[in-house]
Amino acid sequence: MILVTGATGNVGRHVVGELLCANARIRALSRDPASANLPGDVEVARTDEMPMDGVTSLFLNPAVFWHGLGDVLDRAKSAGVTRVVMLSSAAALDTDPSNHIAAHHLEVERAIEDSGLEWTFVRPGEFSSNALAWSEAIRAGEPVREPFAAARTTPIHERDIAAVAALALTADDLVGAKPVLSGPESLTHPDMVRIIGEVTGRPARFEEITPEETRKEMLTMPYMREGLVDTLLRMRAESLDRPAEISPEVERITGRPGRTFAEWAADHSDGFR
Ligand SMILES: NC(=O)c1ccc[n+]([C@@H]2O[C@H](COP(=O)([O-])OP(=O)(O)OC[C@H]3O[C@@H](n4cnc5c(N)ncnc54)[C@H](OP(=O)(O)O)[C@@H]3O)[C@@H](O)[C@H]2O)c1
Repeated sequence: MILVTGATGNVGRHVVGELLCANARIRALSRDPASANLPGDVEVARTDEMPMDGVTSLFLNPAVFWHGLGDVLDRAKSAGVTRVVMLSSAAALDTDPSNHIAAHHLEVERAIEDSGLEWTFVRPGEFSSNALAWSEAIRAGEPVREPFAAARTTPIHERDIAAVAALALTADDLVGAKPVLSGPESLTHPDMVRIIGEVTGRPARFEEITPEETRKEMLTMPYMREGLVDTLLRMRAESLDRPAEISPEVERITGRPGRTFAEWAADHSDGFR
């Protein structure tokens, strides 16, 4: 039995889908199982109850466990879990100690390493699904407003992250691996906005704003603290005018090329119309 945390989220829902295709037995966690809307043959349990009986492997999304990870790992070990596949981040490669995203993911990775369980740390870069934050502006016919128009990124389809995670959960080749994952193209955010417009047939525009203006707006959002906002802005500024690195890992591990941003936009076109 595989326990999937964050199972209703961007990546988790696809982890469930990939595991179902592999005929795995799955228990999915949600804070509200009644509205989880997962396939009927998936057992759904409450996140705060986290039943571990019969579980051998765990898909761990750190967004679900900002606190209490040590307790989760202790309970997993006592229940007979042998493997953890963690949704980490490519930011973990950044050696700058002021990078809050790197520090958080490295702390979780270290706790898992210290637990003595088998592990895989899946380290994706920017999710294509971050573009869902633009849907309100695009639906309203307003421009997507962001700084650093020339900054490049390699957006990854959440389904490709899930495909790698599912293989790490069901086969042994990725035990002890930290695959860094990216999408197959180097794009700017204005490129991505244009592609959404082309795929959905809905005109979509990009407008560059200053980092200062962005900082002020981000600080009004829930969960956005100064250190995190500064880290996000610094990471964007550092990717100005250089091609983002494209990782071969999705294709090497899954045997199929990573999905393009246009494929992602087609899969999510309803959200932009
Ligand atoms: N976004 C990126 O570009 C990026 C890049 C690299 C790595 N990552 C990693 O990926 C993670 C996000 O993955 P994701 O997008 O798949 O997650 P997500 O969709 O934001 O969340 C997954 C699920 O977790 C549950 N959840 C959310 N907040 C929670 C909370 N405070 N307490 C308990 N449960 C909560 C929700 O399910 P229920 O409502 O059903 O409980 C949600 O559907 C990040 O935290 C980071 O570690 C992200």
